[in-house]
Amino acid sequence: MAETPTGGRRPRENWGTKLGVILAVSGSAVGLGNFLRFPGKAAANGGGAFLIPYFISLLILGIPICWAEWTLGRQGGRMGFNSAPGVIYSLTRNPVLRLFGALAILIPVVIYMYYVYIEAWCLGYAWDYAVGNLDSLGMQVDAYKQYFQQFVGADQNGFMRTVTKGSETNVILSRVVYFLVIVFLINFVLIYRGVTKGIETFCKYAMPLLVVAALIVLGRVLTLPPQPVPEPWQFAMADALPEAKWTAFVDGLRNTDARLRAVEDTENGDTIALARATAAETFADDFKKILNDYYKGIIARREGYRADVPVTGPYGYLASVDGVRYALRQLDDPQDADAHREWVRQTRRQLTREQVWDLLHFEAIEAKHLNTLADAQATEAQQGVAEAELRQKRADRIALMEQVGLSPWAERVRDTHDPHLRAAAAEVAELDRTVTNGLGYMWNPFTAEGGRSIWAALSRPQVWLEASCQIFFSLSVGFGIIITYATYLRRNDDVVLNGLTAASTNEFCEVCLGGMITIPAAFIFLGLGSLQGAGTFDLGFFTTPAVFAQMPAGRFFGFVWFFMLFLAAVTSSLSMLQPAIAFLEEGFNLSRRGSVALLGLLTANGILVVLYFSEGLKGLDTMDFWAGNLCIFVMAGTLVILFSWVIGAERCIKLAGQGAELKLPRLFLPVIKYIAPTYLLIIFVFWVRENATSYVESVLTDSTATFVVAFIVLVLIFFAVLVRLANQKWTQEGREVQEIDS
Ligand code: ALA
Repeated sequence: MAETPTGGRRPRENWGTKLGVILAVSGSAVGLGNFLRFPGKAAANGGGAFLIPYFISLLILGIPICWAEWTLGRQGGRMGFNSAPGVIYSLTRNPVLRLFGALAILIPVVIYMYYVYIEAWCLGYAWDYAVGNLDSLGMQVDAYKQYFQQFVGADQNGFMRTVTKGSETNVILSRVVYFLVIVFLINFVLIYRGVTKGIETFCKYAMPLLVVAALIVLGRVLTLPPQPVPEPWQFAMADALPEAKWTAFVDGLRNTDARLRAVEDTENGDTIALARATAAETFADDFKKILNDYYKGIIARREGYRADVPVTGPYGYLASVDGVRYALRQLDDPQDADAHREWVRQTRRQLTREQVWDLLHFEAIEAKHLNTLADAQATEAQQGVAEAELRQKRADRIALMEQVGLSPWAERVRDTHDPHLRAAAAEVAELDRTVTNGLGYMWNPFTAEGGRSIWAALSRPQVWLEASCQIFFSLSVGFGIIITYATYLRRNDDVVLNGLTAASTNEFCEVCLGGMITIPAAFIFLGLGSLQGAGTFDLGFFTTPAVFAQMPAGRFFGFVWFFMLFLAAVTSSLSMLQPAIAFLEEGFNLSRRGSVALLGLLTANGILVVLYFSEGLKGLDTMDFWAGNLCIFVMAGTLVILFSWVIGAERCIKLAGQGAELKLPRLFLPVIKYIAPTYLLIIFVFWVRENATSYVESVLTDSTATFVVAFIVLVLIFFAVLVRLANQKWTQEGREVQEIDS
């Protein structure tokens, strides 16, 4: 094997020890993706059912492409290169393919720009737990949600916040900025120290520490005693409303009821007309407020609805008319509550989980259509569709109810959106809140998404998409990171075993630690509804803190958890900086100081963009979509093509075998050559179909998205120009492609 001499260039760096390289690569993989993204995705996509496409993607895409990146990277390292553009340059003469090296710099750099922002949240939360800032928030998820919104600035754009205390209003710098500065400095100091002294040394301590910290929290979660499942009416009284608000709540109910009756009298009791006619009435506001408290507790949370569905529009309005009356009846007449309780018990025996979810599904569809009907902006055609489907769905629902033995109630439910039924139905869907059932949701595919069959869950392309995107993100595959780290291997270091060990460590942290901490914990304390429909950050930043608040020594565990997240984030974010540093050094002979300064400047600008466009986390989301999804697909595809078709899978497999103690399985060849590219293509087409339209539309219509995408494109052009220049320089230096003698 010919190896380009390094004479005249800076001395090559290598990983210090075998353990060091594994910890560094695992450190890159194990990150927020494992502990925040994975539980969120798994919970929202059906728990156990999600794991099937997840493991299939791991076997078909994750591990094979990892091995490909390790092999290509080590080979590029042997040729004297340390960056993905250098590696690609050394392996192909194709100028277009060589330009793709720019993507392998762009992806980690852009992901870094928003990743470090989340890293700062973790440090901020760890600090807040340490000093007790979260103690006063209590046990309600909503309180944490509000805290989060303010802390990360998701409620408004800009770097400053308006804070009102008493009669004073001040404009102050957002708190998250301080933490952001700290994590930014930590990252750049470590990266400045270099691969061995900075990255490897940090990972050697941080990785074991974070695993120990995660094990401590896991131990606590797995030994939690079962929690009681609250009865629906207990929710309403004790849980949904804190003691202090109780009197105001009851007064509010009575008031609202009186006003409702007055309006009803004039509208002949036609509830839909009433909903439309009174939508703009002034009492709507305090009414909704009451509902927000009342229904979030008893309905929204238990049915797994997003809280904003039942309490807005005519649906929420109608449901709430009954809700208010029911609450009043309950207050005035304990016997009614008993009768209701008995009815719930009977219902419980009659319905299966599937039937319950079907009923709830009808409710959700109905909510949507009623909203369309009441929407003055909806076109006639839309209204027509809504009306027709509403009629059909109602008929379906009544048929289903009759079929499951609920006929006496069918009419009533159809007409009044009976909240009793929904509360009862949700009750049936509720499992005992034990650790085992929480783990069951996570591991058993047959608990299935929405109570539907496993096949129904697996037939949704979105679930497959989410699973493969998770694999890419989690293993840092297709980022250009593994390829960079692999260049620092020694000539005959084992790529097969190293690759598999790092991937296995990542999977252990993701599935065994990440998934088994948050999901059972949220399940035990907050029920199934807290898991279904959870967004990426919901579990980590709203639900988990509410869970810690209910545990003994919750503050301690909260601190350990967020500090662990912070460590995991640092080991990953370091790996996102190294590809660009290596490229700037070897492409332009920049000193370490120069490359660190240039990259610092560039990423600081990107971070400012993310930080400024923080409302609804729009900047973060846009960057994640374009760089963290689209570009990763393209990069992973490019690497597979380079490995399998440009150099040739058979040759590369021989290369991978050099120095390998573990043999690549025979199946690897057909997988990397045919199955992985086909699978990648299918997933990509689905991805474009399912997601791209709304994001492209948003780039065309939303100025924030336009700005952020324009920024990414500029950075891409900048890197493409640099890669082109570096390629010319390497050619002048006579570092053209060497023959790979495998
Ligand atoms: N692989 C890294 C993570 O999972 C990016 O967070």
